[in-house]
Amino acid sequence: MGSEPTKARHVAIIMDGNGRWAKRHHVPRAMGHQRGVEAVRRLVRALEATGLECLTLYAFSSENWNRSEEEIGDLMNLMRRFIKSDLPEFVANDVKLKIIGDWKGLAADIVAMLEDALAQTAKGKRTLAVALNYGSQQEIARAAAKAAEEGEVTVESLAANLDTADLPPLDLLIRTSGEQRLSNFLLWQAAYAEFWFTDVLWPDFTPEHLGEALDQFARRERRYGGR
Ligand code: FPP
Repeated sequence: MGSEPTKARHVAIIMDGNGRWAKRHHVPRAMGHQRGVEAVRRLVRALEATGLECLTLYAFSSENWNRSEEEIGDLMNLMRRFIKSDLPEFVANDVKLKIIGDWKGLAADIVAMLEDALAQTAKGKRTLAVALNYGSQQEIARAAAKAAEEGEVTVESLAANLDTADLPPLDLLIRTSGEQRLSNFLLWQAAYAEFWFTDVLWPDFTPEHLGEALDQFARRERRYGGR
């Protein structure tokens, strides 16, 4: 193991604090989400420079359906607009889009847009994985059922059926806005991940913050249960 700095391959982020950002700035919640999308855009633009193979973002959880109809509508419209406006940039910057979660359950027009985006970015070098209608317990249950259908359920056969099966192991999980919970995100995948929490609200998160987290990660010694 030694003291070689460890280079992260896969970082996941729980983007939290859009609502509090809006409240603090005395603007509607939708504006907080809008600024949240801008923070996403900044990170995607910086993806190449981070050297990461994969960035996974928690954009809409299975539990988010409990929010008001108006807020869900705002989030879905932001999604539509984001795909439309940023897809050409993804393609130009070699970003490969991946969606995890039960995303086929979203509105038909969004599913169609996503399918088109997946096809257009299939050859990209670095992956942006977006969790949509995602719940980790549901993902594990689905994977276990599939593994059982195929044969024996083992750690390996279950993992091979997770939505993230083709992604590198999760190295680092970030949550913004001061909360320190997993909220049903990547429970299985986080088994050996490092955690980095910040009080920064998601709309204020910049590539520099990600750089700070990656620097700290590089200095941590990971033992994977060994010595
Ligand atoms: C948490 O803030 C954020 C969300 C529930 C949604 C995250 C979504 C985005 C950043 C925009 C959509 C993303 C894409 C990729 C288009 P919160 O509302 O829970 O904040 P609060 O806890 O302060 O109320």
